[in-house]
Amino acid sequence: MVKVVFKYDGKDDRIVEGDEGSSVMEAALANDIGEILADCGGSLSCATCHVFVSENWRERVGERSAEEEAMIEMAVDPDGRSRLSCQIKLWPGIDGVEIILPASQL
Ligand code: FES
Repeated sequence: MVKVVFKYDGKDDRIVEGDEGSSVMEAALANDIGEILADCGGSLSCATCHVFVSENWRERVGERSAEEEAMIEMAVDPDGRSRLSCQIKLWPGIDGVEIILPASQL
């Protein structure tokens, strides 16, 4: 299992676990992180799984694909930390990854 720390503005963190090989989005849905809607079920055709990756984790999490980059433009107030959580695969190297939930989704 891989740990994911969901960070909220002004609230306590939620720490959940997901299966290696699944996505941050799947870990969120399985643990009732309601701020991640994931309307398209992870097929990269919505932006309702938008999150920010903490600065100190960005390198390990990796880069966005061109397709993800295009879809992120549909999110509310994206920035350089933006990722679509369905595209972040869980693997041991990102155990404890810090994911910030956008204020627009809280
Ligand atoms: S769930 Fe739709 S793009 Fe991630």
